[in-house]
Amino acid sequence: MTTSFDRVADLYRRQFADELDRKPFDRRLLDRVARRFPTGAPVLEVGSGPAQVGAYLRARGVPVIASDASVGQLREALALDPTRPVLAADLGGLPARAGAFAGIVAFYCLIYGPAEHLGGVFAEWHRALRPGGVAVMAVHAGEGTIHFEEWFGRTVDVTIVLRDPDALAAQLESNGFAVDERTVRPPYDDEHQTDRCYVVATRAESTS
Ligand SMILES: C[S@@+](CC[C@H](N)C(=O)[O-])C[C@H]1O[C@@H](n2cnc3c(N)ncnc32)[C@H](O)[C@@H]1O
Repeated sequence: MTTSFDRVADLYRRQFADELDRKPFDRRLLDRVARRFPTGAPVLEVGSGPAQVGAYLRARGVPVIASDASVGQLREALALDPTRPVLAADLGGLPARAGAFAGIVAFYCLIYGPAEHLGGVFAEWHRALRPGGVAVMAVHAGEGTIHFEEWFGRTVDVTIVLRDPDALAAQLESNGFAVDERTVRPPYDDEHQTDRCYVVATRAESTS
């Protein structure tokens, strides 16, 4: 799958670099979350792609590190902003000490593979976040899968798994997070026509 994202990285950036201009719901959510991060505390964007979401937060003073398993996507993140820090990493195994981050941002990167795998991912985020740290995520909501063999005219092999918002929240809670916000919105006209689920969750204050 990383190969697929490498293959379309330049075109993905062109398509999504300014997407937040057309997404008022997402901007309001990110504005709220940005106010929750302590000034200067590092925030990791996982599965960042070209990191347009991280760029929005950086413009609001949040020091976001862009990370992705696809080096091609990180190259595009640097094309958008050569000054941003980047990190090649799998979102389920972060090369960071315990409590390193005040926040984790994960837009449309928790939509691959079986839902059961997300428990391990949230356990890893619990480790990497400081107590009271905030995780914010967006996924396609619903049931079933959508398979793509072509994207932007190039061959890919990507299967998106729609997520059940209740199950997502339950997995966060069973891995030491309190769910603060959970919203499902219908798609905007120019988006892929799936409902979108956004969750904001706080890592428990205890270290266990
Ligand atoms: C649909 S794109 C989303 C990019 C961006 N966050 C956005 O909202 O447009 C999914 C991204 O997640 C990355 N990704 C998928 N699985 C990953 C994993 N296990 N670890 C890190 N990155 C991953 C892909 O390389 C790709 O850049």
